[in-house]
Amino acid sequence: MMIDTHCHLDSKDYDNIEEVIKHMENNIMIVSTASPSDIKDVVTLCEKYNNIYGTIGIHPEFADSYNSEDLKNVEKYLKHPKIVGIGEVGLDYHYRQDNKEKQKELFIKQINLANSYHKPLVIHSRDSLEDTYNILAKYKNKDLKGIMHCFSGDVNYAKKIVNLNMYLGIGGILTFKKEKKLKEVVKTLDVQYLVLETDSPYLTPEPFRGKKNEPVNIKYVALKIAELKKEKIGKILEITTENALGIFDLKL
Ligand code: NI
Repeated sequence: MMIDTHCHLDSKDYDNIEEVIKHMENNIMIVSTASPSDIKDVVTLCEKYNNIYGTIGIHPEFADSYNSEDLKNVEKYLKHPKIVGIGEVGLDYHYRQDNKEKQKELFIKQINLANSYHKPLVIHSRDSLEDTYNILAKYKNKDLKGIMHCFSGDVNYAKKIVNLNMYLGIGGILTFKKEKKLKEVVKTLDVQYLVLETDSPYLTPEPFRGKKNEPVNIKYVALKIAELKKEKIGKILEITTENALGIFDLKL
């Protein structure tokens, strides 16, 4: 079994979403909101398909525009049995650096929600790893788990992050020919700290780079990890699945 710990399944992105979901028969997908308006859609998918679970939250891109209703909505649906985490939430300094304080404030609010509801965090951090790390270290309950989605730091940060009871979400970037830093991270860290993700419809792994991504492509990420670790792919799938089941407390 494989678990895609982070994907977006918006019907606007796919001609035939039923087909995409069918490709993951007997596997599990954790669908994440990209915007506060996605919450309802994620809940609908979770209710329709046995093998889909969701994480909901307010992405840092909306730090200026979200309202208190959005946060209340996150809290309301956190009580849904198939909403298994808060995400994606975090900090993104790639496009905006003028509202860092607002982004941090929203991030901390959602870490506090994760703490009170004992729901793992799925973190988006772009060009903001130092602040993300410091905030997690200060505000996240020690025993609360989470995933650094699309981890892009170096080995040093990878070690610091996993010491916070966090896992590294490894996706298609690992398969890119020019990518070196992430390969070093995967070679160095034990598989017990890794989970698989696609971030579909983005970040399609080789050999399909350039095409639209879909959850079933995590097998190419697992293959690359197996190659780098000189392990069998079955072993990589077994350990990363076990990790994901534990993080999201999934009882199958
Ligand atoms: Ni994403």
